[in-house]
Formats: sequence, structure tokens, C-alpha cells
Amino acid sequence: MTQELWNAVDRYVTDLLVPADEALTAALAASDAAGLPSIAVAPNQGKLLHLLARIQGARSVLEIGTLGGYSTIWLARALPEDGRLISLEYSPAHADVARANLARAGLDKIAEVRTGAALTTLPKLVAEPGAGPFDLVFIDADKENNPRYVEWALKLTRPGSVIVVDNAVRGGAVADAQTTDPAIVGTREMYELVAREPRLDATAVQTVGTKGHDGFLLARVVA
Ligand code: SAH
Ligand code: DHB
Ligand code: MG
Repeated sequence: MTQELWNAVDRYVTDLLVPADEALTAALAASDAAGLPSIAVAPNQGKLLHLLARIQGARSVLEIGTLGGYSTIWLARALPEDGRLISLEYSPAHADVARANLARAGLDKIAEVRTGAALTTLPKLVAEPGAGPFDLVFIDADKENNPRYVEWALKLTRPGSVIVVDNAVRGGAVADAQTTDPAIVGTREMYELVAREPRLDATAVQTVGTKGHDGFLLARVVA
């Protein structure tokens, strides 16, 4: 009953405010056809990421965890023509689907998918002349590495940059101090890192909807 109600409200909001769109619909269909898991952000969440990037006036975005590039499309569409998005993806198969989806969306000039474990590709990115600072970082990959990803995000941002972490609530599991689930442990360690990190000012908000009960952590780099 509850999930049905959340779905109905997501449908209501999405029908009015997040109109269906050829490239986004095709990206999800191609991801399904390729057997990718259905764990992309919901349409209204993708729109939230897009609006955050626009409000931020972002010209550069770093994404960790591409999947089929659905969130990537939302974020890349927030950037100016000379903007740049780099998305890091472990799975070559996911990256291939994402690249095709980005090309179909006309975003292949703006958005680049780099294959490999993000903990391998992030140090390479830091060493690259002209890479960063990014105006917005979206973290949505393997949750056990969330604290490491926030640390790398700090090396790749500037005061005023925004960091968003997906799946920050996980049905409330994040509040369970006894958990041994590595994804939840990693996410809790990420919260603790953010809490003690003087360069970050943050909050987290619970969400309900087609993706169940979850949430986003939102941080601003202050120094
Ligand atoms: N941001 C996407 C969903 C990402 S799902 C969207 O909302 O549309 C998480 C992705 O992270 C998966 O594609 C998975 O293969 C990738 N991933 C998992 N471990 C990773 C790692 N160590 N480095 C980079 N990507 C990883
Ligand atoms: C999962 C991962 C995600 O990034 C997400 O948004 C939802 C679910 C998962 O691994 O189950
Ligand atoms: Mg996610």
C-alpha cells in the first residue's frame, strides 16, 4: 500500500513536471535490453540532479557510477555547450551502453565515460593537467567505497563545489549502528567523514518514491 502510494505520487509529479523524452526513454530501454540492473535514479530524481547542476551554474561535472548513463544524461544536459562531464564506470559493458545512450542524446561531445575501478581512474584524473576542479560531483557507485569517493571528490573540487551522494538512506538501514552490510558500513563511514571534515557543510534528506525509501546526501565544499 505504501509503495503503491509513493509510486502514484511519483507518477503524478513526473507526468506534470518531468515530461517523457525520447533520449531518456531510449536510454532506459537500451539499458534494460542489455540486461543492466534497473537501479538508475528515478526521472524526478534525475531532474533534481539537473536542477542542482543548473542552480550551481555548473560547467563541469564528475560522476562516479555511470550504469547506462541515465543520470549522466540529466547532468550533462545542465551544462553549457563547452561544458564537460566525466563519468567513471567499472563495467565495460555498462560503459558501452552508456556511451551509445549519450551519443543518441547528442551529448557525446560533453560527456565522456571512463572505464575502470574508480579508485584506479580517480588518481589518474587528479594527475591529469586541466582535470577539475569540478563544479559538481555525483557519487553513485559501489557504496562500500563512499568514504574514499568523498575524499577523492575533495581533491577534485574547489570552494563552492557541490557533492551529491545517492542511496544515503537505504530503507533506513543507514541509522543501524549494528549493521555489518559493507554498503551500509561504507555509507555510515562516509557520513562520519563528512561530519568531521571542516571543508564540507552537509545535510541528507530522505526520499520515498518508485525507488523505495532512500535519500541523498548533499554537501557544499566551503574551503
Ligand atoms: N548513476 C547511475 C546509476 C549507477 S549504478 C544512474 O542513476 O543512472 C552503480 C554503477 O556503479 C554500476 O554501473 C556499477 O557497475 C558501477 N560501479 C560499481 N563499482 C564500481 C567501481 N569500483 N568503480 C566504478 N564504478 C563502479
Ligand atoms: C542499488 C544501487 C543504486 O545506485 C541505486 O540507486 C539503487 C540500488 C543497488 O545496488 O541495489
Ligand atoms: Mg544510486
